Amino acid sequence: MKTRIEPYKIKVVEPIPVTTRAVRERALEQASWNLFRLPADLVTIDLLTDSGVTAMSARQWSGLLSGDEAYAGSHSFLRFEEAVRTLTGYAHVIPTHQGRAAERLLFETIVHCGDLVPGNTHFDTTRANIEHVGATAIDLPIAAARVPSLDLPFKGDLDLGRLEALLEATPRARVPLVVVTVTSNGCGGQPVSIENLRAVRGLCDRFGVGLYLDAARFAENAWMIRQREAAWSGRTPREIARAMFDLADGCLMSAKKDGLVNIGGFLALRDGALAEELKRMMVLGEGFPTYGGLAGRDLEAMACGLEEVLDPAYLADRIAQVADLGDRLHAAGVPTVRPPGGHAIYLDSRAFAPHLGPLDLPGQSLACALYLHAGVRSVEIGQLMRGRNASPTEEPVDLDLVRLAIPRRVYTCCQLDYVAEAVTDVYAAREALLPLEIVEQPPALRHFGARLRPRRAPAPREPTRTNGASVGQA
Ligand SMILES: Cc1ncc(COP(=O)(O)O)c(C=O)c1O
Repeated sequence: MKTRIEPYKIKVVEPIPVTTRAVRERALEQASWNLFRLPADLVTIDLLTDSGVTAMSARQWSGLLSGDEAYAGSHSFLRFEEAVRTLTGYAHVIPTHQGRAAERLLFETIVHCGDLVPGNTHFDTTRANIEHVGATAIDLPIAAARVPSLDLPFKGDLDLGRLEALLEATPRARVPLVVVTVTSNGCGGQPVSIENLRAVRGLCDRFGVGLYLDAARFAENAWMIRQREAAWSGRTPREIARAMFDLADGCLMSAKKDGLVNIGGFLALRDGALAEELKRMMVLGEGFPTYGGLAGRDLEAMACGLEEVLDPAYLADRIAQVADLGDRLHAAGVPTVRPPGGHAIYLDSRAFAPHLGPLDLPGQSLACALYLHAGVRSVEIGQLMRGRNASPTEEPVDLDLVRLAIPRRVYTCCQLDYVAEAVTDVYAAREALLPLEIVEQPPALRHFGARLRPRRAPAPREPTRTNGASVGQA
């Protein structure tokens, strides 16, 4: 059969808000042109993130009821611990309330002021936690990762030459670990190959440095290895995931992605002495080591999610759903990061709206236009998120992207067709995208709280379509 069907049926439904253009215009104005400030009940299709927004399965929901809330040694912890051990092969498993708590715990314990922590491309919170202890997070993506239109199978790979040069030039004691993020969220959800991971392992062994995976999207990475790395084509996702974990000393996990849960995370590792130290530290902030800031029911749901995520039917559908959206936009001429990522499609805002300069915030303008046109919420990953001082002298950042992150098991193919239509409509009317300016910004993480406005009044409205969408102008 040629038609791809979702490998699940829907048991519980949640209505999604269908709004008019006039309502969205008012909402965006009230939100100061910042989509983080919008009430979610005015968003029709929410592609702000794929994190913590997964639809859980009937098995996971029933696990919530059988969760054991004992403070110490609950059977839900033992089941969770076994699931992580079976998946990773790591003996020591430490639950945390989400991924960044695992980062904080590990880095506060083994990273010191003045250290360097190289990686393929660190996620924001990973970078922030490294910098929090006075160390420097160093991104070493391959050069191709910086060229959105280049279509290569493993744009998440780490640049081996630059890693080798860094390890040669730096005293061993100043590099406590290397972190490889699978898939690389910072590089467009692109996968890392086993070949690259093996080579990184080789360098880490040669220089005596530990290697950790940021495994938030390990299953999506495993599936893309199966599709793209010839030596692994006949292997199961579980075998490939295990091969990835085998090459590292431990992992940091935000289970809000490939754990298929709404909250949860963990640290897992081989080193028993370090695990004991981490457990002592975690009591200060996260909780007792057998619950780690979570309820027993959350551990139960996570154990189940870590098994379900490796189902080949689920992964085939998941990766194809995202790829279909990316391929459809690409075929319509919309500039996107190629190839499609595992969890998201990234629009190249500067190529999308070449009439806007980098300081006109083209990504934010595009994200707002998509919301105004069809109620689709995306997120700008560009000048607004990564730029700093909001003045005419602000440095342009290297890439200006808009991310359409696809929640797991939440939206149907038809709903993603609606998204594709919305993006192509806005692309057809792209000259109407308005320059935006920042009116007010908080001192850190400005994209969450900034207030913005268009530099000139929006163009006159076009007629509203029956589904509430109208050809976009922002
Ligand atoms: C690659 C990666 N690492 C770590 C995190 C942080 O995880 P959490 O949001 O669970 O704290 C994220 C979150 O999006 C991520 O994408």
